[in-house]
Amino acid sequence: MKAKLFLFLLIAGTTVFLAGCLEDDKITPDLTEPKLPEQAYNYTDISFPPGLDVAFGSNAPNVFVVNTDPVNFGGIDNPTVTDEGATLGRVLFYDKRLSVNNSIACASCHRQELAFADFRAGSVGFGGKVTPRNSMAIINVALNRNLFWDSRVHSAKELILQPIQNHIEMGMESLSTLEKKLNNTPFYAALFKNAYGDGQVTRERIADAMAQFLCSMVSADSRFDQGQTNNFADFTALESLGMNLFFSNRTRCSECHAGANFMAEDQPGGPYGTPTTRGSANTGLDAVTRDPGFRNGQFRIPSLRNIELTAPYMHDGRFATLEEVIDFYDHGIQAHPNLDPKLVGEDGEPLRLHLSSLEKQALVAFLKTLTDQTLVKDEKFSNPFN
Ligand code: HEC
Ligand code: HEC
Repeated sequence: MKAKLFLFLLIAGTTVFLAGCLEDDKITPDLTEPKLPEQAYNYTDISFPPGLDVAFGSNAPNVFVVNTDPVNFGGIDNPTVTDEGATLGRVLFYDKRLSVNNSIACASCHRQELAFADFRAGSVGFGGKVTPRNSMAIINVALNRNLFWDSRVHSAKELILQPIQNHIEMGMESLSTLEKKLNNTPFYAALFKNAYGDGQVTRERIADAMAQFLCSMVSADSRFDQGQTNNFADFTALESLGMNLFFSNRTRCSECHAGANFMAEDQPGGPYGTPTTRGSANTGLDAVTRDPGFRNGQFRIPSLRNIELTAPYMHDGRFATLEEVIDFYDHGIQAHPNLDPKLVGEDGEPLRLHLSSLEKQALVAFLKTLTDQTLVKDEKFSNPFN
């Protein structure tokens, strides 16, 4: 009896003691280790199949200036990808320890099976709070100079530490606390050593490794990509009709969702174009905004790659299906002082497309040819903690 009570007190006491330490240091008691392959996956065989850097259709001048060196993307603040660096990045991306209460990882809001988007309109962060914007798919970040819905960030590295510190998303208020926490997580020393030569955890290395992982995620194996090599021989009649509509002057879809990434184009200038907001942030589509706090309805023109997987749609996730999006473009656009001229008809009123129901189905069918199953199934991008 006494022994039992003693044991109980000991356990209770230890728990209180540990809880106190954890509270102070935010040191995780969770010692789950990632399962990694003996030989690191190959993250450096990044290549863009012919066609991705080539103009498609008259509306798309060469969007990508693809660096022929497959490892170093060059450009603004992009990392040099190594297998070991991206391996570390993968672990960090899936590790819930990066949030203040070990509840949220990057992957909680960026799910591989959804092309790294979230199925919720607003994603749930560490304290159950909801992000005001829809989580974005992670698609060809290395080739994108305008990140986030408002293009406020210009490189993967610059972006990484933001969600970690962001109060809604991961809540890690101090980066030195994060460094300390990872230094106290035994398996990280070897991963940092493999990637950087010694086991020291620094915020720069955290950002660099995760940026390596993000930049190694290239989506270029959709049926649309394959179609470029065989002149779309296996497209159905419906998909071909949709493709023609998409690239037509009638719908003007491809004037905004342009080039091989189906998104806003960079301006010429730097290696990937000088980051500017022209063409990348767009005025107008948010004319029916639900949140007056946003900047005049300006949002980046998002990539449409993998769009089938990334519902709900638009910056606030207002549309549940692609059919609803097409209906919006068909007859839902509202007048607004900032409405993009491309969405205004000759009569000065918001554009009305008058699509038949077959044409609407065709556009949806075409959008679904942009899905890349390779990306969403590739083990090297999957959760190592599973
Ligand atoms: C709680 C949900 C949540 C978490 C956790 C989260 N994100 Fe995000 N992510 C979002 C949302 C929402 C956006 C869009 C934000 C905006 O535009 O203001 C976004 C945008 C992005 C983008 C921009 C993609 C593009 O094309 O512009 C990248 C890249 C990204 N996140 C990577 C990460 C990484 C890396 C982590 C972990 C360090 C992370 N995210 C953690 C919700 C989340
Ligand atoms: C004037 C430029 C412009 C034109 C023309 C345009 N779009 Fe968009 N598109 C945008 C912008 C900007 C957004 C993001 C709007 C927002 O989040 O509020 C968007 C969002 C989308 C989305 C949702 C993307 C996501 O990740 O949630 C889809 C799908 C889409 N557009 C398809 C089309 C189709 C199909 C057409 C032609 C019928 C078209 N767009 C024409 C600029 C344009």
